[in-house]
Amino acid sequence: MSRDLVYPVITIDGPTASGKGTVAHRVAKNLGFHYLDSGALYRLTALSAIEQGIALTDEAAVADLARALPCRFVKGHVYLGQIDVTDAVRAEAIGVAASKIAVLPAVRKALVELQVSFRQAPGLVADGRDMGTVIFPDAVQKIFLTASVAARANRRYKQLIEKGFPANMEDLVKDLSERDARDSARTEAPLKPAPGAYILDTSEITAEEAVYQILVLYAMASK
Ligand code: DC
Repeated sequence: MSRDLVYPVITIDGPTASGKGTVAHRVAKNLGFHYLDSGALYRLTALSAIEQGIALTDEAAVADLARALPCRFVKGHVYLGQIDVTDAVRAEAIGVAASKIAVLPAVRKALVELQVSFRQAPGLVADGRDMGTVIFPDAVQKIFLTASVAARANRRYKQLIEKGFPANMEDLVKDLSERDARDSARTEAPLKPAPGAYILDTSEITAEEAVYQILVLYAMASK
């Protein structure tokens, strides 16, 4: 039996700042599973392109970068080559740049193999936009995590301030709405719930409650 059929995957897709990262990370920890933050791979590719002076519209050059991305995830830290880019990669400008290169089909294709390689024993929790629709269509449990633009802007505002980045509510609402539109409208792997995905709205619930609901759904799905 192939490795892909053996190790279970839980996919958690949804718009930016829906709480996916926090929730997916906690679900993975609770189950002792690996965790894939696929957005980080798009962010790392965008950061790498900017650092190397490659235009974000140069599909072939950005795809080449993505294919050979020298990234490592070690104890909650993200490295590009030898450099710790954990904070740099979370900056709002890099998120916007990531969303721009994510519309390029060659870039998405270049990142497939790397994403699939995260599926290891005893299982994987993968968060992103197309985890349930494209990368792991056979996932045992698919979640679409969402929240209102206001709730998401509020969360992102707090995250940025905590990390010492400048933040402005009006700009955040505008950025989030534009990014949602770009992520949802693209022809290649648009942001949309996978068939059979459980839609979980976190506008009014805490991360703990979302984690609990996902663990219950997974327990039922894997019976
Ligand atoms: O989840 P995030 O905000 O870190 O993702 C950054 C951008 O990367 C997001 O705007 C769209 C893109 N992305 C994607 O297209 N597909 C994924 N699986 C993950 C992220």
